[in-house]
Formats: sequence, structure tokens, C-alpha cells
Amino acid sequence: MLLLRFDGVSKDYLSNGTRVRALESITLDVAPKEFVALVGRSGCGKSTLLNLAGAMDFPTSGEVWLDGQATTKLSDAGLTKLRREKVGFIFQSFQLLPTLTVIENVELPLLLAGRLDARKPARDCLRWVDLEGLEDRFPHQLSGGQQQRVAIARALVHSPRLLLADEPIGNLDTATGNLILELLRRIVTERGTTILMATHSVESTAFADTVIHLRDGRIKEVCRR
Ligand SMILES: Nc1ncnc2c1ncn2[C@@H]1O[C@H](COP(=O)(O)OP(=O)(O)OP(=O)(O)O)[C@@H](O)[C@H]1O
Ligand SMILES: [Mg+2]
Repeated sequence: MLLLRFDGVSKDYLSNGTRVRALESITLDVAPKEFVALVGRSGCGKSTLLNLAGAMDFPTSGEVWLDGQATTKLSDAGLTKLRREKVGFIFQSFQLLPTLTVIENVELPLLLAGRLDARKPARDCLRWVDLEGLEDRFPHQLSGGQQQRVAIARALVHSPRLLLADEPIGNLDTATGNLILELLRRIVTERGTTILMATHSVESTAFADTVIHLRDGRIKEVCRR
């Protein structure tokens, strides 16, 4: 079964009374354990597509299926549950909470979902991203690459089926960025997670199975390796 399916999806935003079409007739299938890179210029619709894939927003028309569920058919509560259980998100700016320690940041999604036993899975995930020993530091006491690995641990702590990455190496130097891309590849291979990653740079697609080129909200080309 597919993990993610976009069926004729368009997305409009209203900006000062003007309609902006961010995505136009997107049809797209993503299999489980596929690493998909989404490339294209600024404004072509990459973040919009990730938000729809992660059930953070509704399409204007068409349907988004996530793990067999049609997102437009769900209530707000159903959508929140789907998102909490199935999706992890990482960003260019890491978005760690500065007043929480590393381990507390990673525990947070589990605590918000009502789980009481958050410490052990958080420790396990930090070990998995090779950050054992840094649990009690605060985000500002870490390098950029380490902060992104904390964010990855936080995104994986509830074992989501889909990891969405919006420009995950945009704030990192090339060498550190490559380590993060290798880690993302390992997440797909060893944990069986599916990844959808938005990126500006074609070079950072080297670890992906599939590269989708977007232009002006449309799919221009799909390259499968
Ligand atoms: N909340 C919003 N309200 C109005 N227009 C929006 C909104 N979000 C995005 N847009 C518009 O939709 C289009 C797609 O934006 P999107 O953020 O998806 O592009 P992107 O490919 O992620 O760009 P970048 O590479 O700069 O992050 C752009 O024209 C943008 O201006
Ligand atoms: Mg974007």
C-alpha cells in the first residue's frame, strides 16, 4: 500500500484579498520506505506540499491520503491524531524549545500525546542519532549539526511512518549537512521511515530514491533512481 498519495491536489492562499495558487493539480504516490526529495525555486510550493502531506492544512481541491486515510474526510480531532501518530517534522531552523534541555525537547511529543513513559524512548532516540551524554544540555550549548540531530530525535520519538524535512540542511555547512543527509538515509534504511524532504539544492538530493522537480506549483519532472 502507498504511504502517501496526492490526487489532483491544488492549494490556494488568500493574500490581501488576492488568490494565490501555491499548488496546481499535484498527483503523486509515495511508497513506504521511499526517500523523496522535492526541489525547486523559492516560492514553487515545496513547504505547502509538505504541510499538506503532514495533514497540517487542507487542500483547496483534490485529496491527500496519508497511510490510507483521506485527510479532507477527517474532523479536526481526527486530523490531530493522524498527525501525532504518523508524522514527524524537522525544519531549517531546528525549532527546539530554548528553555528545555535536550532530553526534555525529545520527550515533549510523547508527553503532549499523554504518554507517561517518555524518558526511555527519548534516551533511545538520542542514542540513535549519536548524542548520548548531551541529554542535560540546553539547545544553545550545542552546535548546529547537534541541534538538528536533537530535532531529528524529537521527530522520531513516536516512531512516525512519515518524516517531513523542510530545508533540513539550509543552516548548516556542507560537511555537517552531508552528515545529516546520511543520517536521514539511515532512518529510511534501518527504521523503515518514509522521508519527504524539501531542498533548494540539487546536490543534496544524492541520498534520495526519487527527486521531484516543482515549478510554479506544478510537478515538472520526477526522477526515480
Ligand atoms: N500563508 C500564505 N498566505 C499567502 N500566500 C502564501 C502563504 N504561504 C505560501 N504562500 C505562497 O504560496 C506559494 C508557495 O509557497 P511555499 O512556501 O510553499 O514555497 P517554497 O517552495 O517552500 O519556497 P521557499 O523555498 O522560499 O521556502 C508562494 O507564492 C507563496 O508566496
Ligand atoms: Mg519553503
